[in-house]
Amino acid sequence: MLLPEELRSHRWYGSDGVRAFSHRSRTRQLGIGAAEHQGKPVIAVINTWSELNPCHAHLRDRAEAVKRGVWQAGGYPVELPAGAIAGETFTKPTAMLYRNLLAMETEELLRSYPVDGAVLLGGCDKSVPALLMGAASMDVPAIVVPAGPMLRGHWRGETLGSGSDMWRYWDDRRAGQLGDDAWAELEEGIARSAGTCMTMGTASTMTAVAEVLGMTLPGASSIPAVDSAHSRMAAASGRRIVELVWHDVRPSHILTPAAYADAVTVVIALGGSTNALIHLVAMAGRSGVPVSLEDFDLASRRVPVLADIRPSGRHLMEDFYYAGGLPGLLSRIPDLLHPKRITVGGGGLATGLVHDDAVIRPRDNPVSADGGLAVLRGNLAPRGAVIKHLAAEPRLHRHTGPALVFDGYADLRRRIDDPDLPVTADTVLVLRGVGPRGGPGMPEYGMLPIPDKLLKQGVRDMLRISDARMSGTSYGACVLHVAPESHIGGPLAVVRDGDPITVDVPDRRLELGIPDDELVARRAEWTPPAPVYPRGYGRLFDAHVSQADEGCDFDFLAAPGRIPEPEAG
Ligand code: FES
Repeated sequence: MLLPEELRSHRWYGSDGVRAFSHRSRTRQLGIGAAEHQGKPVIAVINTWSELNPCHAHLRDRAEAVKRGVWQAGGYPVELPAGAIAGETFTKPTAMLYRNLLAMETEELLRSYPVDGAVLLGGCDKSVPALLMGAASMDVPAIVVPAGPMLRGHWRGETLGSGSDMWRYWDDRRAGQLGDDAWAELEEGIARSAGTCMTMGTASTMTAVAEVLGMTLPGASSIPAVDSAHSRMAAASGRRIVELVWHDVRPSHILTPAAYADAVTVVIALGGSTNALIHLVAMAGRSGVPVSLEDFDLASRRVPVLADIRPSGRHLMEDFYYAGGLPGLLSRIPDLLHPKRITVGGGGLATGLVHDDAVIRPRDNPVSADGGLAVLRGNLAPRGAVIKHLAAEPRLHRHTGPALVFDGYADLRRRIDDPDLPVTADTVLVLRGVGPRGGPGMPEYGMLPIPDKLLKQGVRDMLRISDARMSGTSYGACVLHVAPESHIGGPLAVVRDGDPITVDVPDRRLELGIPDDELVARRAEWTPPAPVYPRGYGRLFDAHVSQADEGCDFDFLAAPGRIPEPEAG
């Protein structure tokens, strides 16, 4: 148990010098009296709320609930806004371009201010990994308050899942099967409350990851954003962080190899987003824990998918919560986990009852007996590529077809619906120039649209390959994250129309069917493109971001290691 004089903030507030006088007088300026904060843990409430992030629309209120809890437990809460560009909904080309920026912002907020502990409010896609990367690097006590999923969507008696059903009905609309009125009604009904996408997209996957790592209170990640339990969880997190500070329980105590191994397992059992592969590799790197693509592939061979949630299953996150949420799912796989770990909740990894076997399946009736996710390698992806074959038509799990190549997203948009496009259902669509540096930021272009003329023939899935990511709410036979990316001369850069490409999920292969010497000759002819952004943050990103198999972190941030504390008193 720390003494008040041992608090980090004491270096700002505690001395008799003129700088400490200044810090105290400026706190008086905020209307805070000495008795309200002196000798108490200062808790940063890092809030990723913004008016262009509807997934976080409720986080202003939740920050107030957190602060209530901090005050109740004898701490001093200070709200710090962060990450206004961490939401996926409006950010172009993708919020992934800014994940590392939010991670840096989080780390530097915690470093530069008189902070003893932090409550991290986020949920939309990149925000949770970013907040955790920053907290892991700074290593002050921290707890995540996940934003929580939004309510189910509704339309004409149907339940709608964000992302997944939008893509499905978009295909119907492009095929001429959905009129203007129906489309407008869908727009009204698919996103009905604050909160993150309520399918098992990246947000639901990564908030579950935060919980299984031990960085949220038990059950926190499954609570719908607008449920009153969410406010109670936020206040409880505020109370708990004060205890964590006094007992000096830091992320480095929690984010162990066992914790990351359990996170990989749970991503598979959830049928989680392919984006988790990138984020977990990056997060584990910040903790000094080696996690590789092979860890996911191995887990996928032994862990069943038990969460029957779209896009791989039938239900939505609200159903998952009522069925028992993540604690319920964990109770189905205790033999695959390390439950006796340190967590912010204090009592090991919490499990709970399952109330609906249709949503959280028993082990003898899984959604899929294996994990439904594979890491492919071959001459087209020497450092790996990922496919979530669980969400693809089985006929495409083993397929050879001629390549049809698109150079960037603009080329794709311009030509994909051309009636003269030389394409059949057996064609392999290739999109390149959309990786970490080419995108930049690996935009979610990986679920290439089915060409209009094939949609009208009833085709709803075909093989697609890119160095992009895809939304966790997406589906289809999409080979993603091809590494190295084409922008830096990866083999994808030299594929030509008509080249045979083989995808073999059972054998984990991705091959370009041309002779080796032809591949070498084509690469010798290749010239690298100019950086996409000549100045600013984009230029920093281009200079330092790693490839998808390494987590897309910045090279100067990826390793663990403490930086000297700033002089404060
Ligand atoms: Fe924010 Fe899906 S867009 S969670």
